[in-house]
Amino acid sequence: LGVTVYDPGFLNTASCISRITYIDGDKGILRYRGYPIEELAEKSTFMEVSFLLLYGELPTSRELEHFTHRVLRHTFLKQSLVDIIKATPKESHPMGLLVSMLAAEGTLYPDANPAISGGDVYNSPRVREKQILRLLGTMPTLAAFVYRHKMGRPFNYPAYGGSRSYTENFMYMLDSMEDPSYRPNATLVKALDTLFVLHADHELNCSTAAVRHLTSSDVDVFTAFSGAAGALYGPLHGGANEAVLRMLERIGSVEKVPAFIEAVKNRKARLMGFGHRVYKNYDPRARIVRKLAYQVFEICGKDPLIEIATTLEEHALKDNYFIERKLYPNVDFYSGLIYKAMGFPTDFFTILFAIGRTPGWLAHWLEYLDDPDKKIARPKQNYLGSDQRSYIPLTQRN
Ligand code: CMC
Repeated sequence: LGVTVYDPGFLNTASCISRITYIDGDKGILRYRGYPIEELAEKSTFMEVSFLLLYGELPTSRELEHFTHRVLRHTFLKQSLVDIIKATPKESHPMGLLVSMLAAEGTLYPDANPAISGGDVYNSPRVREKQILRLLGTMPTLAAFVYRHKMGRPFNYPAYGGSRSYTENFMYMLDSMEDPSYRPNATLVKALDTLFVLHADHELNCSTAAVRHLTSSDVDVFTAFSGAAGALYGPLHGGANEAVLRMLERIGSVEKVPAFIEAVKNRKARLMGFGHRVYKNYDPRARIVRKLAYQVFEICGKDPLIEIATTLEEHALKDNYFIERKLYPNVDFYSGLIYKAMGFPTDFFTILFAIGRTPGWLAHWLEYLDDPDKKIARPKQNYLGSDQRSYIPLTQRN
């Protein structure tokens, strides 16, 4: 215990040693386990990147096949979770539901809870592996069932056993009109898979820090994920993709962009999808997402909001307010436009981010569990409240 440093938002506090993701915010560099994000986005797949984040190395083809097979075998939801989804109003926000569903899921797996299963079970590699498979496997099913419920359509159960990839299986569950032979457009599957790769980890962002924080109390990983999903829901974090879309719709036309920029400078609005705690140069993910958007538009048609988005970006990048503060588009600036073009409802965007972030949350969970320096998270405060005073009975207060 040393001197207490006042550090709101943990701008200058390192709370762990990590070997998962490297970011150089000034140079716009992002690497998972040493591999540049640009290469992974172009050449890899979400399952391969999940393996890399979790186990530290790229898998051999046998390892990848085995891993994918095992994840896909864990995609079915327990009936009680399906019943909870059915019991919720269709208008419920998917992220609010995800927070609840993850917490509910945790109650179904006593082996994940050290208070019930005991430390030996909880810490065994087999039991940890089981939670990894359950979370990676059920996350897209939870999302797809919430989507189908929202649409008032029957659920499509996972298409396990075919040749479908993880992301294709997800899109099958979303879109198939109860037709088991349905195959979604391969370019769109690839685009969504790439978006999952881009979102897979980002070191100690708010939700990943929440996973570590909650896990430090020895709570089960599903409850830690529920907390992380809560953090991701916020518009300053994962909820920004939804907030960007709503902002673009509110602006409404290219002509209104300069007035909106003025409103941002006068602090009447925030330019959502801009700025980042770490990137003080262009977010490398945003560059890839922007390119991807045009590929998706070729298939789904160009969304008119893209003109407003590119005009906003052009204006902001030339404006001193944004230049001085080093504010650039982040990963969320263009991703919502892709999701919209693909037909997702606006309030569904952040749950897509959550699917992508799952391997990152899990990798940090694993790393935390094996950290020899781990300690329950318990920041300090500077107390500036009242000094000691005497209780006044209710009848004597005025
Ligand atoms: N629009 C207008 N001004 C901004 C913005 C923005 N998007 N972002 C930062 N600023 C200003 C801020 O007002 C402050 O100005 P001043 O020093 O004059 O008070 C300065 O820039 C520094 O901002 P900050 O809030 O201290 O920076 P931070 O590192 O604490 O916050 C952020 C980072 C991402 C929360 C913030 O940039 C923001 O709110 N961006 C919009 C929401 C968003 O797009 N979030 C997604 C982040 S990337 C993916 C993810 O994490 O999910």
